[in-house]
Amino acid sequence: MTNPPDVIRAAYAELIVTDLAAARWFYVDVLGLVVTAEETDALYLRAFEEYLHHSLVLRKGKTPALARLGYRVRDPRELDVAEKYYTELGVPVRRADPGATLGIGAAVRIQDPIGFPIEFFYDATHTERFTQHYHLQPANAISRLDHFNVTVPDVRSAYTYYTNLGFGASETIEDDEDNLYAAWLYRKSTVHDIALTGGDGPRLHHIAFSSHERTQVLHTCDMLGALRAENHIERGPGRHGVSNAFYLYLRDPDGHRIEIYTTDYYTGDPDNPTIRWDVHDNRRRSFWGHEVVPSWYAEASTVLDLDGNPVPISSPERRESLVSVGADGFGTALEGADEKGFKLGHQA
Ligand SMILES: [Fe+2]
Repeated sequence: MTNPPDVIRAAYAELIVTDLAAARWFYVDVLGLVVTAEETDALYLRAFEEYLHHSLVLRKGKTPALARLGYRVRDPRELDVAEKYYTELGVPVRRADPGATLGIGAAVRIQDPIGFPIEFFYDATHTERFTQHYHLQPANAISRLDHFNVTVPDVRSAYTYYTNLGFGASETIEDDEDNLYAAWLYRKSTVHDIALTGGDGPRLHHIAFSSHERTQVLHTCDMLGALRAENHIERGPGRHGVSNAFYLYLRDPDGHRIEIYTTDYYTGDPDNPTIRWDVHDNRRRSFWGHEVVPSWYAEASTVLDLDGNPVPISSPERRESLVSVGADGFGTALEGADEKGFKLGHQA
């Protein structure tokens, strides 16, 4: 079997949106992403610390969908590796010429074994990095793209596919019968480049952008309230159990879910331990024990194949959202207490 391509990180996503002006308001005017390029039917955006051409493409279409997830590989030779690897896996594989996506060089596009349209690339147009352009940065400035989160009916097989591709596992949600409900997988030295969420799929659950500070995340909430656009806030702000990150989930004007994310941790050592959360621990999704809103588990974006057609979805055998947290509703945290009246939940 051919070695898998050497993926560096999650690099960009292309979303189909139905109203480019509304999308521009949300991503540029509210979230503050920088416009690298604009065409009649597309916007190419990046965050303040990014020097590649874009980390998000918004392309006008009739129905909201995910068109592509882009991974950057270590050098251009990895494209040949990718072509061979996926041809042997028997999934659709296509070469894309330089410029097939504005700002991106030669690429290999595949529909991966779990149903997602993926692009591998190395060459890309460089732009100015605005790290210290503080005079241009709003109070809710976003630094960079951090990760993708995809909804899949069979988390175990998706986990196997990604670990075979060389991704490390930072955290999981499991039960004691070896059922895997979710997993966080990385190539760069953070908690994840991609998360797998059990559910009807393949669908895109969300794309996450990173800020440096919690105050920047909170300012987005204040902006949306001030603009009477609070309906775009779906869940949070809060602290995740998994990843330890401070989070906020938003829905864009087409319903695509965007997470603003900050303060996860370093995972770059080769023996970085996998943290395994029990599915009954109600701090796993919200460290403060807040219930997850039903839409967060149920709703996600349609995924397109390499020809632009919606990929059919199937359902999981088990749903994390239906797993009982405990009769008292407090999960494991109150099953006993130490001398101060507290007991730490367990992470086996
Ligand atoms: Fe996320």
